[in-house]
Amino acid sequence: MADPNPRILPYGMAAIAEAAMRITRGECVAVPTETVYGLAADAGNADAVAGIYAAKGRPSFNPLIVHVADAAAAEALAMFDDDARVLAARFWPGPLTLVLPLRDDAGIASLVTAGLATVALRVPRHRAMQALLAAVGRPLAAPSANASNGISPTRAWHVASSLGIRVPLIIDDGATDAGLESTIVAGRTILRPGPITAAELPFATVPHIKESAITAPGQLATHYAPAKPLRLNATAAQGDEWLIGHGPITGDDMLSASGDLREAAARVFDALHRADASDRARIAVAPIPDVGLGEAINDRLRRAAHR
Ligand code: TXA
Ligand code: MG
Repeated sequence: MADPNPRILPYGMAAIAEAAMRITRGECVAVPTETVYGLAADAGNADAVAGIYAAKGRPSFNPLIVHVADAAAAEALAMFDDDARVLAARFWPGPLTLVLPLRDDAGIASLVTAGLATVALRVPRHRAMQALLAAVGRPLAAPSANASNGISPTRAWHVASSLGIRVPLIIDDGATDAGLESTIVAGRTILRPGPITAAELPFATVPHIKESAITAPGQLATHYAPAKPLRLNATAAQGDEWLIGHGPITGDDMLSASGDLREAAARVFDALHRADASDRARIAVAPIPDVGLGEAINDRLRRAAHR
């Protein structure tokens, strides 16, 4: 396990000022968004972006999401078509990432896109990420702030326990709201289900594609694995399992006692972190209905169970 004692500052002017200074001099900083905590660096600074990959231990072929303050800043980096403009107008700022053709003059380090001709863009809603974007005045590349193949962080301590002093500063603004990474859309295909469901999109989408069919890197099957074996669709704990319950199935921990999928999405990574930290050798999770937000939750749970 990484050194558990990085510098953590509560969200506020002092934290944003220090974070902006660190990013401007080429460091990376962990910052909450409304989905999960991100590990942010100047997207135009190749050395700084290399620092993200190094801190995460991430394979360098896996491209990063670029965060910008608003749609106008996004249009300076990528080519938008009518569909993309409709989505941006409806869901930004918010938990939607658009994969779009990169502009030649975007000034994004090629390490960010892993050499692809497209870039993944997102305008986050969270006050901390918005304040940081305003203070730095540059696009910020930010993957989830966890070691590669670890569980995405929804709280500052998740970042600290995963990355330790490999991240120089963590801005703590409590638990994230959505709890799952952003929905990624390319054209009319959902590349990654997320907080914005297929039914909420203004056009019919191609269902999100299977890992084997993905040409862009990054949708690795093991992307979200906890350290312990995980069993899905469990109706009761077996042996030494830590049961994460949901709805009528009561466990050591609960996603949502009332079966609310929004609450379950916000809690699922936190529950996996707690299960990993528990004294039990195995984890089991109750069934989650595969509708609406349940689709994104089940996507993450299947990845977590795939080892
Ligand atoms: O909610 C989120 O999206 C969080 C917060 C921090 O913004 N970020 C996040 O980033 O989940 P990351 O790096 O863990 O996941 C980015 C995903 C990867 O699956 C990557 O392969 C995909 O986006 N991606 C990035 N650029 C892409 C591109 N040009 N084409 C297709 N997929 C791309
Ligand atoms: Mg991630």
